[in-house]
Amino acid sequence: MRRVALLGATGSIGRQAIEIVEAHPDLELCAVASGSTPLDDIASPLRQIGGDLTELLDRAEPDVVLNAVVGFAGIHATLWALERGVDLALANKESLVAAGDLALAAQERGGGRMLPVDSEHSAVFQCLEGRGGEQIDSLVLTGSGGPFRGRTRAELEDVTPEQALEHPTWRMGPKITIDSATLANKGLELIEAHFLFGVPYDRIEVAIQPTSIVHSLVRFRDGAALAHLGYPDMRVPISYALTYPERAATPLPPLDLTSLTLEFSAPDTETFPMLALAREAGEKGGAAPCVYNAANEIAVAAFLAGRLPFLAIPEVVGETLAAAGDNPVRDLDDLLEVDRATRAAAEGALAAA
Ligand SMILES: NC(=O)c1ccc[n+]([C@@H]2O[C@H](COP(=O)([O-])OP(=O)(O)OC[C@H]3O[C@@H](n4cnc5c(N)ncnc54)[C@H](OP(=O)(O)O)[C@@H]3O)[C@@H](O)[C@H]2O)c1
Repeated sequence: MRRVALLGATGSIGRQAIEIVEAHPDLELCAVASGSTPLDDIASPLRQIGGDLTELLDRAEPDVVLNAVVGFAGIHATLWALERGVDLALANKESLVAAGDLALAAQERGGGRMLPVDSEHSAVFQCLEGRGGEQIDSLVLTGSGGPFRGRTRAELEDVTPEQALEHPTWRMGPKITIDSATLANKGLELIEAHFLFGVPYDRIEVAIQPTSIVHSLVRFRDGAALAHLGYPDMRVPISYALTYPERAATPLPPLDLTSLTLEFSAPDTETFPMLALAREAGEKGGAAPCVYNAANEIAVAAFLAGRLPFLAIPEVVGETLAAAGDNPVRDLDDLLEVDRATRAAAEGALAAA
C-alpha cells in the first residue's frame, strides 16, 4: 500500500486524484486538506481545512505527498516532503518556482524524488527516462496558447474574467486558467522545468500546439526528439506520479491518430509578455522567480475580482519585478519575506494601474 497525503483535495487536480486513488488497489489516502471547502465527502483517516499543512503531514506519515494546493501556500508542504525524502508528486508549480534553489537544497539533504504532475513536465520526465546532462540538447514545453491565442492587444483590452476562464482544451481551477490565458502558466512552467531537470533557460523552448495532444518533447544530442502524446486529461500524469514506476491503467481511450491535427507555432510574446518576463526572472535567479510568482498571484486575484484589466496583469508584474531589490534568499524566512514584501508592492502597483 502506498499512503497518499492529498493537499488541495477539493480542487480540480485533487478531485481527479481521488478518482485515481479509488481505482487503484495499492493506493490509499492517509490525509486530505483543503483551504476552506469542507472535506466530509472524502474518506480519509485525517482531514484538515486550512492551517499548518506540515502538522498534518507529520501526523499522517505519508509515502507520497500530492501537493495540489494552488499558489505559494503550497510552499511548506513541498519543502516538508523534500527535506524528509518523502516522494513529492508536484502539481503546485508555484512552490518550486518561488523556492527553486531552497527546494533543490532540501531535496539534496532529504534524498526524495520529485514526480511532476504538470502534464508538460510529466511528459519531459517520461521522455528523459533518467537521462540528463550532456545527452540533452533542449526541452520543448508545449502550450495550447490559451483562450486568446491569435488575438491582438487591441482585442484583449476589454476581455472579462468569464471569457478568460473559457480554456479551449483543459478544465482547471481559476488561477491556472487565467495563467494560461496570459501565458504566465507557460512562464511558471519554464522556471519549473529549469529546476526539475537542471536544464539552462537558453535550452528550454516553448511551442504553441493548440490541441494539447503533444505534451512536450526532448531533443537529444544525437538528433532524436522524443515527444509525449495523449489526450489532454490530467488523470494520466496524476496516475503516473502516484504509481511510478508502474504505468497503471486509466479510463482513457487509446489515442486515435487519424483524428489528430498537430500544428506548432512560436508563442506571441509581444501580446502575452508574461512568458518573456518569466524568462527574465528565471535567468536573473535569486529572489526574482519568487517576485514574479507573488506579483502574478496578486494581479490574477485582482483581475478575477474585476479590479484589474487583463492587459494590466503583465504591467503589474513587470513593474513589481523592476522595482524589486536584489534580496538574498538564504533560507525559508528570507523567501517568506520576499513573498510578503512583493505582495505589498504589487498591491501598490495595482492601485496605480
Ligand atoms: N487543474 C489542472 O489541470 C492543473 C494542471 C497542471 C498543474 N496544476 C497546478 O495544480 C495546482 C492546483 O490547481 P487546481 O487547478 O487543482 O486548483 P483549484 O481547483 O483552485 O484547487 C486548489 C486547491 O487548493 C486548496 N487550497 C488553496 N489554498 C490552500 C491552503 N492555504 N491550504 C490548503 N489547501 C489550500 C483549495 O481548497 P479550497 O477548495 O478550500 O479552496 C483546493 O482544494 C496549481 O498549482 C496548478 O498550477 C493544475
